[in-house]
Amino acid sequence: MTEKVIRITETVLRDAHQSLMATRMSTADMLPIIEKMNQAGYYALECWGGATYDAAIRFLKEDPWERLREIRKKAPDTKLQMLLRGQNLIGYRHYADDIVDKFVEKAVENGIDIFRIFDALNDPRNIQASLDAVKKYGAHAQLTICYTISDVHTVDYYRTLTKELTEMGADSICLKDMAGILTPKVARDLVRAIKEVSDLPLNIHTHSTSGIGQMTYLAAVEGGANIIDCAISPFAEGTSQPTTESLTLALEELGYDTGLHVEILEEIADYFKIIRNKYLDSGVLDPKMLFSEPKALIYQVPGGMLSNLNSQLKQANAIDKYDDVLQEVPRVWKDLGFPPLVTPMSQMIGTQAVFNVLSGKRYQMVPTEVKDYLHGKYGKSPVPVADDFRISIIGNDEVMTDRPANHLKPEFEQLKLELGDLAKTDEDVLTYALFPQVGKAYLQKKYGKKESLTEEEPIRIQARYHK
Ligand code: CO
Repeated sequence: MTEKVIRITETVLRDAHQSLMATRMSTADMLPIIEKMNQAGYYALECWGGATYDAAIRFLKEDPWERLREIRKKAPDTKLQMLLRGQNLIGYRHYADDIVDKFVEKAVENGIDIFRIFDALNDPRNIQASLDAVKKYGAHAQLTICYTISDVHTVDYYRTLTKELTEMGADSICLKDMAGILTPKVARDLVRAIKEVSDLPLNIHTHSTSGIGQMTYLAAVEGGANIIDCAISPFAEGTSQPTTESLTLALEELGYDTGLHVEILEEIADYFKIIRNKYLDSGVLDPKMLFSEPKALIYQVPGGMLSNLNSQLKQANAIDKYDDVLQEVPRVWKDLGFPPLVTPMSQMIGTQAVFNVLSGKRYQMVPTEVKDYLHGKYGKSPVPVADDFRISIIGNDEVMTDRPANHLKPEFEQLKLELGDLAKTDEDVLTYALFPQVGKAYLQKKYGKKESLTEEEPIRIQARYHK
């Protein structure tokens, strides 16, 4: 029997700890095992981007670029992958095209091979600039479809989007189920539909949140998927990805060649078991996140969002409102035109749902980002927002209809000037560009300057739009 090939990307260095414990794994806990991971036979190590940069400078007081360089050094034979939020990069607003270009240039230079690029709204205009930059610097562009369920997200919708991403010049396609709501049957149907219109390698990304991740992967693999994302057992399941070792064994037995060495995976698992126990003991990892939560299938709330809501409500001493907030999320989601629940939309909707529940009156408090979204500054929502709802929040303000970044002037040089003598490298300028307050405070610390700025800042800041 000829073996079919299925490749596995390991997420323990990025999505697994982002989903389970708000991205708090330190570089020091990663580095001792990277050489071993380099020998395991993974398709790629997802190790950067997403929330890792923010968490590194905000909470861990670490240099995210240094982490990347160290991983690169210790994993010379394995592709390194990052998650890039299109025009948002790894921050929370739209950046001008020159920042996108510079960020991608530096990420390639420091070691990234594969850029998984997505836009929260599946608006291809928002991934164009990142795609151009990734091509320009010779890296792999994996263009991403965010999976969500609504009346408009039909098989035809995904087929059309796949065609569009393929024609744009994708090197591979990722179907990204950040919420863990992709069921086995739908996975198989979608994989087949996507394969009908695109010859590109297809990567499926899911979370075990609702307890069906492994079945979903099997169905996707049987349907013809080429790559799946898994996490090594100590950081797998729950809100994280399905387990690398188990999937490997099961798929090998079914006649698939994963290219992975199970005995090396075991060593990696033994290492991470110690790391996991440390985070469990210190309370950074809440064991609740390791359980399956079928509510995800009902509320369609991504793992990362569940853990964020959990900690937001804990901080507000309102953990008893958890179920109320989970029920409010789909209502806000509908009001906002069913944007896929992924950063930054997941935070916006989560925060709005928390506000709606805690203030006791819906939309009494509306974050600036939600207003910006209603102004069209994030792109096009999958379903148009109802006029009366929009008007109730932003009045008769004009709504942007072209590519939002068309309204952004080049900003790198200006930011470099602003940063002054803290701008020792382009990477420093990017840190400041992406996280103005937290980034500056981090750089002041890094270069031994007295801290003058608060490290607290709202989770998102407004883009510098000009008229
Ligand atoms: Co994910």
